Amino acid sequence: MQIEGRSALITGGSRGLGAALGRALAREGARVVLVARGGEELARVVGEIRAEGGDAHGFAADVGAKEDIHRIAGAASALAGPIDLLVHNASTLGPTPLRLLLDTECEDLGQVLDVNLLGPFRLTRALAGGMVLRGRGLVLQVTSDASVNGYPAWGAYGVSKAALDQLGRIWAAELEGTGVRVLTVDPGEMRTAMHAAAMPDADPATLADPAVVARRLVAIIRAAEAIPTGTRLEASNWTPPRWQPMAVGAAFPRGRG
Ligand SMILES: NC(=O)c1ccc[n+]([C@@H]2O[C@H](COP(=O)([O-])OP(=O)(O)OC[C@H]3O[C@@H](n4cnc5c(N)ncnc54)[C@H](OP(=O)(O)O)[C@@H]3O)[C@@H](O)[C@H]2O)c1
Repeated sequence: MQIEGRSALITGGSRGLGAALGRALAREGARVVLVARGGEELARVVGEIRAEGGDAHGFAADVGAKEDIHRIAGAASALAGPIDLLVHNASTLGPTPLRLLLDTECEDLGQVLDVNLLGPFRLTRALAGGMVLRGRGLVLQVTSDASVNGYPAWGAYGVSKAALDQLGRIWAAELEGTGVRVLTVDPGEMRTAMHAAAMPDADPATLADPAVVARRLVAIIRAAEAIPTGTRLEASNWTPPRWQPMAVGAAFPRGRG
């Protein structure tokens, strides 16, 4: 999809991958709205993007809180215009150190599902209708390899990301033909606060820089119309689809933007 001049809402935009993606999309000319709970960290990232000449806004809210969802959707559209790109990046691991399912409280599982699954579901539901009316939009969900591997002690997080993957497939099937696409991307292991909280002994040199991963996500967003809606991608393995030369005399595809 075109990025320049488009409006993007990124949850979890105050640090790590979300902040890097906000910077990268603003450099490509998007109007970005970043959401996180911590207003100070958010204001610092917004200030940095603006200092580079980017168009950025911050909105402090909790994607796991039902009552915040319509505030986020309304504020984002008011600040940046109708949202073309919605990135579900905010996420929680639940209590750390991570624990086995036998030691996991139901309330902790519920809190992880609120942030990692219900938040994205509610926010997509709040914004997808407007995208359908405009005939265009991309919902990009950030998942993890914990959604497809049964790692001990990653239970609550892994379950939430597996459900998010399936949510993306079903949204995609139900929105097929409307111009609204849904993609789910595993960013791979990155040097971020979340990784440090989950695996404090990991060697940072073995982890990707979130800025590098953000540039891959930008390439995926640019190519979104050539990727089947509902696809789950791995950012580290992804290569841009080859553009097929159009047959002579073929009609121009009537894209919706
Ligand atoms: N890091 C990795 O190695 C790795 C690997 C695979 C997948 N991922 C996925 O990549 C995404 C980004 O992760 P990251 O490593 O960049 O995480 P991070 O550095 O911990 O950043 C998380 C961001 O989400 C925000 N956030 C957390 N809970 C929130 C809530 N309830 N409401 C609103 N904002 C919230 C945080 O700000 P506040 O705390 O101020 O709210 C922060 O801006 C996540 O979806 C994660 O699951 C990461």
